[in-house]
Amino acid sequence: MSHDSDVQPAQAPNLDFAGTTPYEDYVQADVLTHLQHPLSSDPGEMAFLVTTQVMELWFTVIVHEWHTAAEALRDDDPHTALAALKRSTYEMQSLNASWEPLAHLTPVQFNSYRSALGEGSGFQSAMYRRMEFLLGEKSASMLVPHRGAPRVHAELEKALHEPSLYDEALRYLARQGAEIPEHVLRRDVSQRYEPDPAVEAAWVAIYTGDSEGVLHRLGEGLTEVAELVWRWRSDHLVATRRAMGAKTGTGGSAGVAWLEKRAAKQVFPELWTARSHV
Ligand code: HEM
Repeated sequence: MSHDSDVQPAQAPNLDFAGTTPYEDYVQADVLTHLQHPLSSDPGEMAFLVTTQVMELWFTVIVHEWHTAAEALRDDDPHTALAALKRSTYEMQSLNASWEPLAHLTPVQFNSYRSALGEGSGFQSAMYRRMEFLLGEKSASMLVPHRGAPRVHAELEKALHEPSLYDEALRYLARQGAEIPEHVLRRDVSQRYEPDPAVEAAWVAIYTGDSEGVLHRLGEGLTEVAELVWRWRSDHLVATRRAMGAKTGTGGSAGVAWLEKRAAKQVFPELWTARSHV
């Protein structure tokens, strides 16, 4: 209901709503702020839980952006793709900044709620797995933990069999005249992407060419994403090392040693190796 809003300079906000507020109807803040159920009585656990939930929300937006970018590349619409990649890099910077509340945990602080987490581990995050799949880090065995959750499992299975963001980028490059081999274009996209010397050569050719060109800008957009993924993994690794040293993870892995191997994996590998030849 609007009254004489144009004539009163400092009109107060509307207080009168028949049902829930339009803000609530849109944001569902009441749902969102009642999803926090710590498992211990330790006051520090709330920050651990909420940081994890915040990261899940960022994963969701980032998956949406990369999906948008992949579809746009499939439709030969690089401008929509580049805009989505750019948004995702801003979101990833916010995601990475969310490490701060967990980056300084001592082992004693972490221990005070760690056992309450049981076998729970971020390793079981389905939305993170979708991010990895979009990056080309495909693995059917990563679906196994989700067998008991039909919707999540179906979403992951679909993502496993879809071309990754990088697959779509390479197909787009090929349609623009880059020399991407047939076996790369027709690869089984449910398998992990493996680097290929011909793809590296194609990026070298792009990087030595027009630096304002759309393929060059796509290469840089993807490189930015790759760097920020690497930063997330590295910050996770350091936070883990600070909080629990070399102990076994709650998810059953070797912990830091396992995460070190994961963090060492190159995202969009040829975009990094090509740089030695430009
Ligand atoms: C200080 C807090 C944290 C510690 C000590 C920690 C520890 C670990 C460890 C040891 C693993 C290896 C798997 C395992 O055995 O559990 C792991 C994996 C993982 N964690 Fe964390 N974590 C922390 C915070 C977080 C947060 C806030 C998130 C956000 C969702 C997260 C997401 C993940 C993901 C996605 C993986 C799997 C990585 C991959 O598949 O490469 N972790 N974490």
